[in-house]
Amino acid sequence: MLEKISHLIQEIEAELIDSAEKAEQFRLKYLSKKGILNDLFEEFKTIANEQKKEVGKHLNILKQKAQEKFDLAKENLENSVNTEELNIDVTLPGEPFSIGSHHPISIVRREIIDVFSRIGFTVAEGPEIEDDWHNFTSLNFPPDHPARDMQDTFFIEDEIALRTHTSSIQIRVMENQKPPIRILAPGRVYRNEAISARAHCFFHQIEGLYIDENVSFADLKQTLLYFAKEMFGEETNIRLRPSYFPFTEPSAEMDVSCPFCKGKGCNICKGSGWVEILGCGMVDPNVLENCSIDSKKYTGYAFGMGIERISMLKYQVKDLRLFSENDLRFLNQFKSVL
Ligand code: DAH
Repeated sequence: MLEKISHLIQEIEAELIDSAEKAEQFRLKYLSKKGILNDLFEEFKTIANEQKKEVGKHLNILKQKAQEKFDLAKENLENSVNTEELNIDVTLPGEPFSIGSHHPISIVRREIIDVFSRIGFTVAEGPEIEDDWHNFTSLNFPPDHPARDMQDTFFIEDEIALRTHTSSIQIRVMENQKPPIRILAPGRVYRNEAISARAHCFFHQIEGLYIDENVSFADLKQTLLYFAKEMFGEETNIRLRPSYFPFTEPSAEMDVSCPFCKGKGCNICKGSGWVEILGCGMVDPNVLENCSIDSKKYTGYAFGMGIERISMLKYQVKDLRLFSENDLRFLNQFKSVL
């Protein structure tokens, strides 16, 4: 009987089950009530007791093999797709995937980060929902400053609002790190403005902050000149105009020579030859002290720019709304930019 069993194991292993009919034939031949295995189990009852242990063991192996073979074949048959039945020509080339593109805001954000990371700036982040302290008070905004007004700020509750600028991240970093600090903080910001070609209720900014001993306005100017040349081309000039921000003293706004007319005057720069791109200044000592940084020992500069504004200049986009409307005719134009 042992010989018969081993012969059957070989036979089962050699069986080819490649269709539902063959699977059924296999089942009838080996596993059904009238199948070979059942007969063998009947025969098993008649053999001598001392042989039962050995023969029983092999009989079970045979049964297990037959069942496994049948189950596996059934599973494979169920999972396989009959291409003839579906009328599909599997030799046809596939349909190409439509490749997406990066959003222009992401492209420009990455480019700006890239330029500053080459001179040692790292990226910091902060929350979009901010408290009054980080968005206003610590940045030296007086209690009656118009930016705190409901008209400009989206309040969530008393003292909690959507951040109106990325300057709040400066504070979070200074509260948690010791100088030297050299960070770049990109993020989305919100203002309660009517949406038009030139204004939106949300947009993106990048903030820069450098705090160390002996940081001067000359360092700020050189850093920004380097940035302008990297971003808009080697021939780009900058100019700084005196300005006011509560958190910097002195403060300035920076213009770059118009990248389109090279300073001659065109409709993009409204004939002036210059376009404004950012605000900057030396961090006010009050702001340093608010973050427990010794303002006698340390000085620093900060700057903030709108990513949409830089993107509009780089790609000659005339309407801010295009950046948030998800119009594929607009977005597809950036496919070639990595
Ligand atoms: N937070 C300012 C804004 O939203 C931009 C800005 C100006 C940031 C001067 C600065 C800075 O860091 O020094 O208009």
